[in-house]
Amino acid sequence: MKIAVIGTGYVGLVTGTCLAETGNTVICVDINEAKVLKMQNGEIPIYEPGLDVLFLRNIEQKRLTFTTDLALAVKDAQIIFMALPTPPGGDGAADLSYILGAAKDISKLVTEYKVIVNKSTVPVGTADKVAAVFAAHTDIEIDVVSNPEFLREGVAVDDFMKPDRVVIGTRSDRAKKLMGELYGPYVRQGNPILFMDEKSSELTKYAANSFLATKITFMNEVANLCELVGADVDSVRKGIGSDERIGKRFLFPGIGYGGSCFPKDVQALAKSAEENKYDFAILKAVMEINEKQKTVLVEKVAKYYKGDLTGKHFALWGLAFKPETDDIREAPALYIIDDLVKAGATVTVFDPEGMANVKNVIGDKVVYAENQYDALEGADALLIATEWSVFRNPDFDKMEEKLVNKVIFDGRNLYDLNKMIELGYYYNSIGRKLVENGA
Ligand code: UDX
Repeated sequence: MKIAVIGTGYVGLVTGTCLAETGNTVICVDINEAKVLKMQNGEIPIYEPGLDVLFLRNIEQKRLTFTTDLALAVKDAQIIFMALPTPPGGDGAADLSYILGAAKDISKLVTEYKVIVNKSTVPVGTADKVAAVFAAHTDIEIDVVSNPEFLREGVAVDDFMKPDRVVIGTRSDRAKKLMGELYGPYVRQGNPILFMDEKSSELTKYAANSFLATKITFMNEVANLCELVGADVDSVRKGIGSDERIGKRFLFPGIGYGGSCFPKDVQALAKSAEENKYDFAILKAVMEINEKQKTVLVEKVAKYYKGDLTGKHFALWGLAFKPETDDIREAPALYIIDDLVKAGATVTVFDPEGMANVKNVIGDKVVYAENQYDALEGADALLIATEWSVFRNPDFDKMEEKLVNKVIFDGRNLYDLNKMIELGYYYNSIGRKLVENGA
């Protein structure tokens, strides 16, 4: 099939590349000329494991091309994906100006039937709004489809190629048929394509992310309570997770959820409920608790140093909001840095992929180490904010040489408590027993 993808951000690029991989001809459009030029030369603008191989292969096979020319992309495309940003506006509701603007531009270019697909995460009712923009500018028949993405950063290629489900919101049989054909190759293993109306599809995306954010938040609260009553959150996690109705995944407590999706989507769903005069109370609690959870690690640090962090020097492992990505949007690490620096401490950081992005945002506010061990040089304590695999089984001898004190505040529960006792660390993690003085 001939596909156009408008917007080459994270979602657009993964979608375009993965659609090309099954033999479709995909043309990706972006207004950023420098970025388009780079992609035309085979330079991939984001870090996503496995995507580079597919990206290069499909460019080579001429199934994947890039342009700034919207008219060229729209001309032959049977299906046009819109993968544009929907940032939170001033009032927390998703800002639809990019989507509606693109819809207007496309509407002036169409000369035959097309399926317009909303891939961006958008509030309920957006498909109708997009359809109204088309109706206002063209008489050509089009169908607007809601097709939310459920891609996790770090495993986005796998999520696209082998999705748990594909959600397609449309009431048009013509659009259903085309979308069904397009996604057929991705659901060969038997996972479903779920057809529904546009509004249900739009709500599915928000509900999925908000449910997951709630699940994490619930566990963060259980972890906080564990610390107070002397229980172990790992045991509780396993204890409840083995009930299939609860499930083992997404039960790991930490220092608050982050990233480009959860915070924005929970906020947008709460706003959407409010606009419809519904008090979605649980979401308000989730947002409030998550804000607090981001401060938990620094509070532990402050308590340890009796409220005085002036002149203290800390090493921070992990900047990205989660492992296997360079994405630092809403990363808990940034809040930790801010709190430490405000309290008069200095920080040296290391992250396998997120350093350049952090440098762009906060510049010289921290020192950037060459590797995880250099970051420990002269540090009073180590803080851990992201569960990268390289931090899971470090060389503890090397760490001991560099750290001034054997003190770790672990926001991701990476280490076995007995190991920490054996090594003689002060080890403060989330929802688990505090290890001090070898006990
Ligand atoms: C998420 C959804 O999973 C995906 O389906 C959606 O399309 C986009 O948003 P992503 O933002 O890539 O994907 O991250 P995800 O792996 O879901 O993690 C989100 C946040 O939750 C991270 O900050 C992570 O650290 C946190 N998290 C996750 C926990 O704190 N505990 C867990 O058990 C799982």
